[in-house]
Amino acid sequence: MNKKGQIAACPIIRPRYFYDCTLNEKLLYSSFLLLAGLAYLMALAYLYTSYNGIDGKPGLSVEDVAENYYGNRSGTRLESALRGPMAGYIDVEHRNHVVEWLKSGAPEADYERLIKPMFDERCVICHSAASGLQIPDLTSYEGVKQVANVDTGVSLHSLMKVSHIHLFGIALVAFAIGLVFRFALLPAWFQYTLTLLPFVAIFTDIAAWFLTKWDPIYAYTVIIAGGLLGLSWALQILISLYQIWFLRCRVTVESEDNGQ
Ligand code: HEC
Repeated sequence: MNKKGQIAACPIIRPRYFYDCTLNEKLLYSSFLLLAGLAYLMALAYLYTSYNGIDGKPGLSVEDVAENYYGNRSGTRLESALRGPMAGYIDVEHRNHVVEWLKSGAPEADYERLIKPMFDERCVICHSAASGLQIPDLTSYEGVKQVANVDTGVSLHSLMKVSHIHLFGIALVAFAIGLVFRFALLPAWFQYTLTLLPFVAIFTDIAAWFLTKWDPIYAYTVIIAGGLLGLSWALQILISLYQIWFLRCRVTVESEDNGQ
């Protein structure tokens, strides 16, 4: 008997589909997929709010991504921080004062008068040796000066930190979503492609972070790979949820029909 004949004759070795799953499995898979989808949307919102306007313009753009990894070689770390992750700790008017001060070459005389009182009030709760955090010390001119020189983007060290967390985390999530998605009834080539895509996309995305640090042109790769990850997860989740609750086994349906 050829392989096809065997599969037809022996239901045990036929792959399981969603309609073969018990209600308990369906509930488990659906809840996981819904929460994973929500987590992904939350991650997007977080990404949007932390990258929004790094380059001074609203919206997440290729320039934002390039600037995060490559840096703004004509700006400073202090300015990028104030336009990006630290934007919440300062209002626009005070930020403009700091930017003016930076553009004028960050002179020490103006530091005492303009900058120090502002930073003492808003920043040093976290940015001092006393806080115990490994972040720039902004209590003195020397400390501020270190972030007031050219911005070369995220440091390699933090890139490695974020990369390994992402690789572990996303590999596990992709694996779990893929475990559920394997029950989908789809053309094989489509299912195989969609199963592999998140893994390829996340690898490409993270490789492109490092490449963007070297040349900002790879910001496009970061965005395209990130988009592919989102697309492949969205498809896996939506197809699975649809098939879990709406796809019926044709054979059963037909035999029911015949019985009538
Ligand atoms: C609630 C704590 C907190 C406050 C308040 C705060 N920061 Fe930060 N800041 C952090 C943390 C944590 C980091 C490191 C995290 C990161 O790299 O995103 C950081 C990072 C930075 C960096 C380094 C960015 C880089 O390129 O590595 C700068 C510069 C900075 N902050 C400036 C400021 C300024 C100026 C203020 C006040 C207007 C401020 N921060 C207020 C917690 C704070």
